Amino acid sequence: MAEAAANLNPSDDLATLRSETALTVTAAADLAALDEIRVGILGKKGRLTEMMKSLGALAPEARKERGAALNVLKDEMTALIDARQKILSAAAMQDKLARESIDVTLAARPASEGRVHPISQTIDEIVTIFASMGFAVAKGPDIESEYYNFEALNIPSSHPARDMQATFFLPGTDPKYKTVLRTQTSPVQIRTMMGQKPPIRVIAPGRTYRVDYDQTHTPMFHQVEGLVIDEKSHMGHLKGCLLDFLRAFFGIADLPIRFRPSYFPFTEPSAEVDIGCSRKNGEIKLGNHGDWLEILGSGMVHPNVLRNCGIDPDHYQGFAFGMGIERLAMLKYGIPDLRTFFEADLRWLKHYGFLPLDIPNPALKA
Ligand code: DAH
Repeated sequence: MAEAAANLNPSDDLATLRSETALTVTAAADLAALDEIRVGILGKKGRLTEMMKSLGALAPEARKERGAALNVLKDEMTALIDARQKILSAAAMQDKLARESIDVTLAARPASEGRVHPISQTIDEIVTIFASMGFAVAKGPDIESEYYNFEALNIPSSHPARDMQATFFLPGTDPKYKTVLRTQTSPVQIRTMMGQKPPIRVIAPGRTYRVDYDQTHTPMFHQVEGLVIDEKSHMGHLKGCLLDFLRAFFGIADLPIRFRPSYFPFTEPSAEVDIGCSRKNGEIKLGNHGDWLEILGSGMVHPNVLRNCGIDPDHYQGFAFGMGIERLAMLKYGIPDLRTFFEADLRWLKHYGFLPLDIPNPALKA
């Protein structure tokens, strides 16, 4: 009908195109529909384009007049379509944002294949428990001077305790003290006491090294050291501190502990600590079952050690303890062979490792 009108009255067909376009453009539901309308009017074979093409057939005067009118109409149509396009684009963006929005109330679903190594997990748990008791984390280097690793800890070079800690020696530059891979985390005690004034309350988890390899020894392993120095802390505090830690760590509320007199050069008196267990059919089960299992070494910091660090033993005192992290992890998570910790076997890690958001010990939540 528009075609017919165009033939009958050349100016009417412009009015028709104008009003029809206004209607269809406003009704266009999405960008694709709008584009179809644009092509139908302004495209190569569009209605307005066809009208432009037919200008040549007109007399010069009429051509001028209609040409000008067509240009006005073209600008109008373009503006109309552009305005609608803006609205539809904004709506499309809103729609996309709504569809792709993240529901933060949804529980996280870790899909990753990655696992937290049991050693990392165990260190995190140890740090969490001691942090709740007011301990800070202290650090020291893996490559250590004999001075910090032995000498300052009251283990002079002639001391038999040096032989017990099969040491890796490294080339060093100090003529007086050799350079070693630290055999224990105890040198961090020395560095901490030399670096800060009491009161001190730190734990120091980290790697340690000894020349040893069998089912219960690996050349690299982990220890955590504890150190408390102030004016009053005594063996009773040491026992309470370790009792709380071990019960929280193993998640056993009535886990008994037992102090056995022992000897370490850097503590006096010294004690080894056992935890309750049972050993039925070769299987160790922790708890109040009548049998005992050694778990760590501890004692009151030796006055010589305090003196070596510039702390007056007549004024300050405190306790220290040290334990193997692999041993804690093996007992808690039922891992039978120490060597497997460091074999980088992905099947092992998948079995014994932890998902990043796991909270395996309910006692830690409290
Ligand atoms: N450093 C000792 C070891 O490697 C463990 C230890 C025992 C650390 C008693 C201490 C302690 O701080 O007081 O066997």
